[in-house]
Amino acid sequence: MLTSNELRRSFLDFFAARGHAVIPSAPLVPEHDPTVLFTTAGMHPLVPYLLGEPHPKGRRLTDVQLCLRTDDIDEVGDATHNTLFEMLGFWSLGDYGKQDSLRWTLAWFTDVLGLAQDRMAVTVFAGDADASPDDEAVRTWRDLGMPDARIHRLPKADNWWGPAGQTGPCGPDSEIFYDTLRQPCGPACRPGCGCGKWVEIGNNVFMEYHKTADGAFKQLAQRNIDVGLGLERLLMVLNDASDVYHTDLFTPIVACINVVATGSEGSDVNDQRLRRILADHVRAAVFVIADGVQPGNTEQGYICRRLIRRAVRSGHALGITGTMLRVVGQVVITTYREVYPQLGAHEDTILATLAREEDRFRQTLVRGLREFDRQVGELVDRGETVLPGTLIFRLFDTYGFPPSLTAELARERGLGADMAAYAARFAQHQAQSRQANAAKFAGGLADHSAATTRLHTATHLLHQALRDVLGDHVHQMGSNITPERLRFDFAHPSQPTPAEIAQVEAIVNQQIGRDLPVTMTLLPLNDALAQGALAFFGERYPDTVKVYRIGDYSLEVCGGPHVRATHELGGFQIIKVATIGQGVQRIRAVLA
Ligand code: ALA
Repeated sequence: MLTSNELRRSFLDFFAARGHAVIPSAPLVPEHDPTVLFTTAGMHPLVPYLLGEPHPKGRRLTDVQLCLRTDDIDEVGDATHNTLFEMLGFWSLGDYGKQDSLRWTLAWFTDVLGLAQDRMAVTVFAGDADASPDDEAVRTWRDLGMPDARIHRLPKADNWWGPAGQTGPCGPDSEIFYDTLRQPCGPACRPGCGCGKWVEIGNNVFMEYHKTADGAFKQLAQRNIDVGLGLERLLMVLNDASDVYHTDLFTPIVACINVVATGSEGSDVNDQRLRRILADHVRAAVFVIADGVQPGNTEQGYICRRLIRRAVRSGHALGITGTMLRVVGQVVITTYREVYPQLGAHEDTILATLAREEDRFRQTLVRGLREFDRQVGELVDRGETVLPGTLIFRLFDTYGFPPSLTAELARERGLGADMAAYAARFAQHQAQSRQANAAKFAGGLADHSAATTRLHTATHLLHQALRDVLGDHVHQMGSNITPERLRFDFAHPSQPTPAEIAQVEAIVNQQIGRDLPVTMTLLPLNDALAQGALAFFGERYPDTVKVYRIGDYSLEVCGGPHVRATHELGGFQIIKVATIGQGVQRIRAVLA
């Protein structure tokens, strides 16, 4: 049994011995590139050097880079696809060429790791209008003893890598596949066909081109080599494991899931898929949160939220009734903390974030699934086969279902999902809330009397208390304050029960009783959102916004004005609750 630690070590030692400087893994959230959300390949942090800037460590580099890709997220659950993975990489920055890189890759595989060359096959670029066929790679593979029948010439769709974003370094590549010895999927089965017989274990990219904004491929002055090998998959084939989840990177995590999800050991195929999704997504979320990301509605935060919510949904489908992400997350941290100390350093934040997001989503998941089933039942009765965009939007807006999750639920029932109509509905929603806000900012804040000021602050407490009691999907749809009362409209599927209202009222009064200080900071909008400040999604705020903090309880972007401390509010009382539209509730409240 080869361990993941031994494999990383073996790789770095082999390439260090061939003149490569070992560099550290860059953060998962790119430091200098706002065009991509996560580092998706080992080459990504090295783009400036691939374009010609000298690297302080020289022309030969090697590392193990944490990467995250969501384009294969639907594949997760099979034997080999993960969202987060570790890429073993080595680079020639205008130094040696493809003969050396292919020879060394093969030598490490066969001489050091003992993989059988006769179970390998390779692909090379067949050539097109942008670049000629890669005859040099074919010759090199032949010289290395690869039979012609195992050298597949494929077009750009298969054998061209990059750029990572819209523009940047890219080039033809040569992929190495390993035969799992499973039955071929048919006469056309070949490396890269995707059936699972052939597992890609490495990719040599001959990064000699620069794709420009107009779509042209320009020859780079510096001819680079960019090699990436997937740690999880290599570990799997080296240990003759059936899938990546049977390697030491996953076995403790899967064991934990099996304990939490008592019952069958994942024999059922769908059950096994759900367990794998749970393992993969919690692992990825742990690393993403360790890098400073919090679940949210935009960018990295949204991916983080999607991973967590999909994990929660998988656990729910497995029949897990209690909370689970905290224990699974804890095992992820234990498994990886030695190699990735950032996990230990942020342990408390990671676990608290997982638990909080799970709690919030659980509250609406069951209701949302019920609504989904009811709507799908009616749809099927009508003989329809595609989920309309309005329903996808409602599940997102009211129950916090990421649209991709809804599409997946639809697929599981053999239905399509009209994502284009969803996108149109979403855009319409954004336009509406912008209008609503323009009106609110124009009219709502004109009265700065002591009474309205107190009610403004009470509104923030109410907003947060509603989220605490009803779930994180609650958000402000409208607010109107007179000296006598506040009126607050918010998104929630059903009218809150008297018990829920009593709880909300009690929380607000409790926070008032704590005499929390109210403070205001001016912050760039993105920083405010990153800190978790509530704000109208899609609102056109100025670059710098006022953020009001009420002790440790509420954080909200707002024009003000507010009291200085919550004792100024006195007693809070909800006097009326009403449903004013589909999924919109209204509360009127007063201060005594
Ligand atoms: N950049 C190449 C890849 O990601 C090595 O496959």
